Amino acid sequence: MTVLLPQIAILGAGSMGGAILSGLLSPEVETAGITVTNRTEAKAAGVRMSTAGHAGVVSLALESDPDATTTALHGAKLVLLGVKPAMVPKLLRDIRDTLPPDAIVVSVAAGVTIATMEALVPNVVFRAMPNTPSLVGLGVTGVAAGSRASDEHAALVRTLFETVGAVIELPESQIDALSTISGSGPAYVFLLIEQLTATARKLGFDEEQSRIMVEQTFRGASELLARERQQSDVDPAELRRRVTSPKGTTERAIGVLQSADLSELFDRATAAALVRAGEMACGE
Ligand SMILES: NC(=O)c1ccc[n+]([C@@H]2O[C@H](COP(=O)([O-])OP(=O)(O)OC[C@H]3O[C@@H](n4cnc5c(N)ncnc54)[C@H](OP(=O)(O)O)[C@@H]3O)[C@@H](O)[C@H]2O)c1
Repeated sequence: MTVLLPQIAILGAGSMGGAILSGLLSPEVETAGITVTNRTEAKAAGVRMSTAGHAGVVSLALESDPDATTTALHGAKLVLLGVKPAMVPKLLRDIRDTLPPDAIVVSVAAGVTIATMEALVPNVVFRAMPNTPSLVGLGVTGVAAGSRASDEHAALVRTLFETVGAVIELPESQIDALSTISGSGPAYVFLLIEQLTATARKLGFDEEQSRIMVEQTFRGASELLARERQQSDVDPAELRRRVTSPKGTTERAIGVLQSADLSELFDRATAAALVRAGEMACGE
């Protein structure tokens, strides 16, 4: 099914803005045009290269074209802010007078609140928190609507982020909590992969063997879970039980892991991340 989106401006297409841009380039997505801006010509040239062959994508650099932002905003109905959080207030001040009144402003900046954005521009605003697997189309994005947003606006923003994965709509008060799970989550998974790989090395496997065993196991287990969920709503606990024969070797290993109270450990880890989000919101 083809996904239809209006004209889009992406102001700042580095890692995250670039990931969302790549989702918009998939064959199932049709937009009325995308204009991307970055600060440096080098970055703009990189975007031009990666979007070559996609009609309707324009990549501009402020360095070589001081009017790049104005050009990008002309006719845009969705304006995605992909700059670093500290730059968002200044960028909003700068574009306030050129933003089309009917453009929806969507920020992916961590820690920049809806109230801050609504105080700076009269437009409908959304705050979103994507994660890095968006780069491979398997992201999770939490989306919080601003006070001026309608259900129609929310549906459009959902469609935008669904091009790079799953979307969870939530009140802004839950954005930081979501971030401790899906935002930081890829780092938790990478840590587990690192640790299990180190254990494989200690068991005498070489680097390549260890890498294959661990990374393919994480990937395979995730794919298996996704398939079983889709086909018969089987949950991870059930899949774990299927690998864990009574009195078998896995049962022994799982017993050791569970005795470490992993659940409490994850509670503490996410609580620590939540405290840090609060500190950052206070400018610490
Ligand atoms: N990366 C993540 O995992 C992640 C996850 C969730 C949310 N986010 C949010 O995503 C935002 C961007 O993070 P990132 O990691 O993608 O950073 P990044 O890779 O540094 O991208 C920022 C981009 O903004 C461009 N830029 C700077 N000033 C600009 C301006 N005035 N107009 C247009 N473009 C401008 C930069 O261009 P030049 O390089 O040419 O200077 C750069 O390409 C942040 O607000 C962050 O909180 C990131």
